[in-house]
Amino acid sequence: MSRVLVTRRLPGPALDRLRAHHDVDVWDGELPPDPDTLQRLVGPAEGLLCLITERVDADLLAAAPALRVIANYAVGADNIDLDAAAARGIPVGVTPGVLTDATADLAFALLLAAARRLVPGSDDVRAGRWRTWEPEGWLGRDVHGATLVVVGAGRIGDAVARRARGFDMDVIAVGRDGDLHAALRRADFVSLHVPLTAATRHLIDAAALAQLRPTAILVNTARGGVVDQDALAAALHDGRLAGAALDVTDPEPLPAAHPLLRAPNLLVVPHIGSATHATREQMTAMAVDNLLAGLAGRPLPHPAG
Ligand code: GLV
Repeated sequence: MSRVLVTRRLPGPALDRLRAHHDVDVWDGELPPDPDTLQRLVGPAEGLLCLITERVDADLLAAAPALRVIANYAVGADNIDLDAAAARGIPVGVTPGVLTDATADLAFALLLAAARRLVPGSDDVRAGRWRTWEPEGWLGRDVHGATLVVVGAGRIGDAVARRARGFDMDVIAVGRDGDLHAALRRADFVSLHVPLTAATRHLIDAAALAQLRPTAILVNTARGGVVDQDALAAALHDGRLAGAALDVTDPEPLPAAHPLLRAPNLLVVPHIGSATHATREQMTAMAVDNLLAGLAGRPLPHPAG
């Protein structure tokens, strides 16, 4: 029996499988443990099941001398210093595949909502500003027949491209070696699906945004750090971009006074790409599979990287 720290309550029955074999400590807070508390809690742990809200760096690993496996409750692992974990010989697992379709659905929901101005329309109805059928009211952008640039040719990008073709969109997929700026010049919509790495941080910077037409809409369900948010806020304020729909920001949440939150034509939701009952339960099961394998000294079924 090993000591396992789980840094939040998780949906689904899979933690019971962990409890059947190991001594499991689940952080019960509404908010993540703060870094000092996490350092204290992880001290005796041999297994760690953590979330993207936890920064797992060399300092945290140094506070966890017995740690033998890390299971991240996410497909991304940018919250974990993978080099530091490798240096300690600690395998890191993630939850790929199970959240592909849920995240692609959300990306498409954001695209449609931004294109057809669903949130301003709904706000106007609730506020009593819907007085009549208006020929020039709440005009948005056509999705059918438009060109979608999908940045990132992995599982989620592919799934978004499939949805887009079903909506009669033209899709341009830009992989690692593609010409991003040339693609952006042709975009009506851009959807981001790259992991956050040193190479992709601020991939969408002022120069990239300058390639877009003023009628274009940017969708980000990847990581907030992929976009230079100051440049994005400026482009929205100056009308150089028709809109942005974000599931992710940097940091999360954005402070209430952040300039991006005052930008026009901005839709932000609270990092809910994988937030369906079924998907989150499957993520719990995969994270548990990773932990059980790592604690048994077996290769992780879903390793990071
Ligand atoms: C969430 O953003 C994830 O990486 O799963």
